[in-house]
Amino acid sequence: MTVLVTGGAGFIGSNFVLDWFARGGGPVVNLDKLTYAGNPANLEGLTGNAAHVFVHGDICDRDLVRRLLEQHAPRAIVHFAAESHVDRSILGPSEFVQTNVVGTFGLLEETRTWWEKRAPSERADFRFLHVSTDEVFGSLGPHDPPFSESTPVAPNSPYAASKAAADHLVRAYHHTYGLPTLTVNCSNNYGPYQFPEKLIPLMILNGLTRKPLPVYGDGGNVRDWLYVQDHCAAIRQVLARGRVGESYNVGGNNQKTNLEVVNAICALLDEARPNRKSPHSTLISFVKDRPGHDHRYAMDSTKISSQIGWKSAESFDSGLRKTVAWYLDNPDWVAHVTSGAYRHWIEKNYAMRGEA
Ligand code: NAD
Ligand code: TYD
Repeated sequence: MTVLVTGGAGFIGSNFVLDWFARGGGPVVNLDKLTYAGNPANLEGLTGNAAHVFVHGDICDRDLVRRLLEQHAPRAIVHFAAESHVDRSILGPSEFVQTNVVGTFGLLEETRTWWEKRAPSERADFRFLHVSTDEVFGSLGPHDPPFSESTPVAPNSPYAASKAAADHLVRAYHHTYGLPTLTVNCSNNYGPYQFPEKLIPLMILNGLTRKPLPVYGDGGNVRDWLYVQDHCAAIRQVLARGRVGESYNVGGNNQKTNLEVVNAICALLDEARPNRKSPHSTLISFVKDRPGHDHRYAMDSTKISSQIGWKSAESFDSGLRKTVAWYLDNPDWVAHVTSGAYRHWIEKNYAMRGEA
């Protein structure tokens, strides 16, 4: 009863695969291209586990996808693989269209062709679970109600547009061909193994090395933060009990301005690495804003909690404390991901921003 996971060496995918095995889940085939964001070190805990088959490859390689489907006959696909960083999508959108749109299309098309040849009972039991984002819904004003599943999509960045396109394809494959699809649209995740291009790990690592903490604009943009293991639990529960053809919004019910998040990180770093003369918040530096920066995201998780029974287990305070502790406890992982190409990205993204 194999599950095919795509992008399982990235941040959320590796947390999902690790949790899956920790909970006694069945075999996993893990297809990952190992882009800058994919890291085999995230999966070191699975060394020697014969039930975890890692395949280094691209979801856009349709021959490979076809072979994996024929060889492993998975009961489900959990599709994480994507280009995932908004700032990179602004500086170079084409990879986003290639992986997130063309890649998802190829995966759906190969899956449909293979699935249509299965016995009726296997067809009925099969699931294609697509992992998507709240960013497809666009931006909320300060007093707007949170996004629900019926909020019209209105993506504003190339990343969000590519994810919205993928969501539409997934929906169409259910509606047109009957493929048993499920979609989860989740808010901002944080936790162990997150690549330090994203807000929370970037601020933790810059703070630890006493580099400036670059806050875009005035720091008033709001995100709804969810601890990554709560997202993984939502995915497992939707996979087990979700209604095919439907999408589920998942949020942390933790709306915070970026400045609140950065100050909370600074307070935790002050506890771990005290410096009375110069607390970490003195490193905060307001820099030029992201173009088209969405003001606010917030998710209404009523559907997944009332229909599936999911709710988050971690509070923002406890989750952030665990996350800061994880980065402090894993200097080798940090050293590995912050070498070479990472430095080049930091120069490219922040050099042109300057002070706001
Ligand atoms: P990530 O960037 O950390 O990891 C992406 C993984 O996909 C990497 O391991 C990478 O090597 C792999 N990959 C990229 N292109 C590939 C390709 N063509 N073929 C095979 N593998 C490829 O991303 P993440 O933060 O773990 O996000 C995972 C999924 O969750 C994405 O689909 C993202 O849109 C979605 N999501 C992320 C968040 C968040 O806050 N990080 C929130 C909601 C939804
Ligand atoms: P990010 O982690 O890139 O996630 P997303 O853009 O998908 O929400 O950014 C989270 C918020 O933090 C977003 O409003 C942009 C802001 N931000 C900064 O202020 N400074 C930074 O250096 C980064 C990477 C993000």
